[in-house]
Amino acid sequence: MSSSQPAQQAAATSRGPTIRAAVRAEYGGPEVVEVRDVPTPAPSRRQVLLRVVAAGVDRGQVHMMTGTPSVMRVATGLRRPRQSGLGLEVAGIVEAVGPDVTGLAVGDTVYGAATSSFAERAVADPRKLARVPTGVDPVRVAALPVSGLTALQALRDVARVQPGHRALVIGASGGVGSYAVQLAVAMGCDVVGVCSAAKADLVRALGATEVIAHDEQDLPTDGSFDAVLDIAGGRPVTRLRQALRSSGTLVLVGDETGGPVTGNLGRQIRASLASLVGRRGPRVRMFVSSTRTADLQELAGYVERGQVRPTLQRTFPLEETAAALAHVQEGRVRGKVVVQVSNER
Ligand SMILES: NC(=O)c1ccc[n+]([C@@H]2O[C@H](COP(=O)([O-])OP(=O)(O)OC[C@H]3O[C@@H](n4cnc5c(N)ncnc54)[C@H](OP(=O)(O)O)[C@@H]3O)[C@@H](O)[C@H]2O)c1
Repeated sequence: MSSSQPAQQAAATSRGPTIRAAVRAEYGGPEVVEVRDVPTPAPSRRQVLLRVVAAGVDRGQVHMMTGTPSVMRVATGLRRPRQSGLGLEVAGIVEAVGPDVTGLAVGDTVYGAATSSFAERAVADPRKLARVPTGVDPVRVAALPVSGLTALQALRDVARVQPGHRALVIGASGGVGSYAVQLAVAMGCDVVGVCSAAKADLVRALGATEVIAHDEQDLPTDGSFDAVLDIAGGRPVTRLRQALRSSGTLVLVGDETGGPVTGNLGRQIRASLASLVGRRGPRVRMFVSSTRTADLQELAGYVERGQVRPTLQRTFPLEETAAALAHVQEGRVRGKVVVQVSNER
């Protein structure tokens, strides 16, 4: 085995059974992603092996595919990706359990985060999984983990929204935004969503009382909002703060408009630091979500109560994972897309 071969394959048995998986050897566009036979991944003592039913496509996987902004390659491999597989969001059925795992058993249907989930099998840390509630379609909840948790934690932990608050969700028609609108409504907020005019119908249907089409209208500067979630990026922080009451919070969630090396990380860090060291008026906070069982369970509760409905624009078969990634990369997504691996329930 050459040193350039991906770690994921090295970790698996080379002569054992194989699975179909989306892999790539280089960073690049969707054309570098192919689906082929790879060794079945082996769970460690603290992991479970999942039979993947479906895997959500989140924007982060586009970054993993392209290796941009390139600062992230410090973690993922400087010249080539260390890990050949792609995919993080998952719903699947537990097929094997490491000897140190407690709380999960073979046959449980779970959702959460797994390593290289665009595949027939994937290993996962049980601390990043929760059971799929009875009667809930695993294909739908496969679209939930990363995007849904990001929305939940941004609203609950960072913006700390309360019933009666006004929330402005910028980037409301995508993965994180479609959950942010629904969750903020469920938390008792009056929600204004910002998206392109073509997707305004979706954001209205998700529960926003007002939709601002960013390609036709300016953002509000009336200081009436308690929370602004900037999921789309590209606008000056000073401009975004004008939408907020002095007690409000601007949460910097995402930004696809920065440079190729560091993205907009520098701008986000500067704005957050300036706010932390005492600038008056609305708070500005950077934020990185994390996947944990308790929050997945909380999200599942919203789904069970019918307050959050994963918005599946379409599903792609595993063999078309590259097309699914292209769909998200090109900004065509309305809500979420999912790679469906099997029909098992
Ligand atoms: N901080 C974290 O922990 C965390 C976690 C997950 C994701 N993220 C980041 O969050 C961002 C969004 O992720 P996502 O999965 O939601 O992506 P996504 O599904 O591609 O959605 C992004 C949305 O932004 C909208 N948009 C584009 N330009 C806009 C503009 N000028 N004004 C308002 N909306 C605009 C797009 O809708 P229209 O076509 O309607 O404009 C699209 O629906 C990415 O940068 C991602 O890396 C951060």
